[in-house]
Amino acid sequence: MSQETVKLIYQGQTFELPLVTGTEGEKAFDISQLRRKTGLITLDSGYANTGSCTSSITFMDGERGILRYRGIPVEQLAERSSFVETAYLLIHGHLPSRRELTRFSVLLNDHSLVHEDMRSFYSTFPRFSHPMGILSAMVNALRSFYPELQTIEEEIDMTVTRLVSKVRTMAAMSYKISRGHKVVYPRPDLSYCANFLNMMFDTPVRPYVIDQDMVDALNVFWILHADHEQNCSTSTVRMVGSGRVNLYAAISAGIAALWGPLHGGANQAVIEMLKKIHQGDESIDRIIQRAKDKSDPFRLMGFGHRVYKTFDPRARIMKKVCDRLLEKLRLEDPLMDIARELEARALSDSFFVDHNLYPNVDFYSGIVLRAMGIPTNMFTVMFAIGRLPGWIAQWKESMDDPSWRLARPRQIYVGPPETAYVPMNEREDREPGPIHRPGE
Ligand SMILES: CC(C)(COP(=O)(O)OP(=O)(O)OC[C@H]1O[C@@H](n2cnc3c(N)ncnc32)[C@H](O)[C@@H]1OP(=O)(O)O)[C@@H](O)C(=O)NCCC(=O)NCCS
Repeated sequence: MSQETVKLIYQGQTFELPLVTGTEGEKAFDISQLRRKTGLITLDSGYANTGSCTSSITFMDGERGILRYRGIPVEQLAERSSFVETAYLLIHGHLPSRRELTRFSVLLNDHSLVHEDMRSFYSTFPRFSHPMGILSAMVNALRSFYPELQTIEEEIDMTVTRLVSKVRTMAAMSYKISRGHKVVYPRPDLSYCANFLNMMFDTPVRPYVIDQDMVDALNVFWILHADHEQNCSTSTVRMVGSGRVNLYAAISAGIAALWGPLHGGANQAVIEMLKKIHQGDESIDRIIQRAKDKSDPFRLMGFGHRVYKTFDPRARIMKKVCDRLLEKLRLEDPLMDIARELEARALSDSFFVDHNLYPNVDFYSGIVLRAMGIPTNMFTVMFAIGRLPGWIAQWKESMDDPSWRLARPRQIYVGPPETAYVPMNEREDREPGPIHRPGE
């Protein structure tokens, strides 16, 4: 902590708040003693100005478009690493040695099967259930099948590895069951990414041929999603975890938070928007106009970010992956042409320029997933598998942090002042709404 302070003058009294400086010079003033000393709290809707923790996992600079995991630029990891290695880096804090990586890969393989009894759960979900709801419920259910062992480091290691491995199997399993197809088991000879694609697309009548370009694209997709510091779902994992629930429950809450269209659900929303333009239900002109119209709640999906006020560095990489994959597979996706045109139109429009609205990672990621054959309703599940190492790393960091406390924000109450209870026969007789009964 530096010697610098911030002075707060309130009711004629001056209070000094200590300044905290991060590795990259980012500054915050520490308000942990604020209420005790001044009686005041801070009010910050959406926490846009609030740091909830110090962290040594991910650094991002939204003004300069920088993203680093444990200090390593995401561009280098996307170019040279694998998803499994990046997961290790995030969870354990350093790049693995060759032997550490081998051990991690062996453990991921050993833990990749899912308890057979869990399959019966899948078949009881209504047929058109969203896979994110299913995944969140199933991850929570894992706790009953694999009680968490948290007493020694090695056991936490096992729980964490089990989760990284099984979530991938469970995601592929939910897809197979939703299609009414036979579940494909993981294979020990395949890498993490290749195994996932095989579990998704192999069938008894048409064996899946592993395509290295697809595997490489999936590796990059998952690396780019692996962590993003204190976003909505990660903060949820930390907040739920702060009550000291088990890891499965905290991750299950993170999955639920990711589901929303303003967060992880944006990749699905982008494709739906591009499809509408393709089908003629919308036009690029109208979409741009609607996004600018304050009376219309519509937003240009895949554009804008709470932190990035320039290009999201992941979006640049994702666009390249997208171009490369479509070219190598000689695939022509009309949605890609629409996306390119929409991007160009938005970036030359003063509304988007003045609001610092640039494409985010979700703008092109849906097209990459489509090229792999991933169905649209599985897009956010793909994001969740990628984000898992980040959630785990952040949960682990919070568990190990001696200054970590139960997360419990305050509020400013603006409701009625103290009001006496009114007996039923003295209350105003108001018209209730209709009762809708199932089947009516
Ligand atoms: C990501 C997002 C929720 C961040 O929002 P935020 O930081 O809370 O920003 P705000 O909602 O305060 O918006 C700031 C301004 O930009 C505008 N804006 C932000 N994103 C916009 C978008 N995608 N389309 C149109 N306008 C947008 C808002 O209307 C607002 O304008 P105003 O200041 O004139 O009222 C927002 O950009 C968004 O909804 N994007 C689309 C969904 C998406 O792609 N999400 C994935 C994120 S990785």
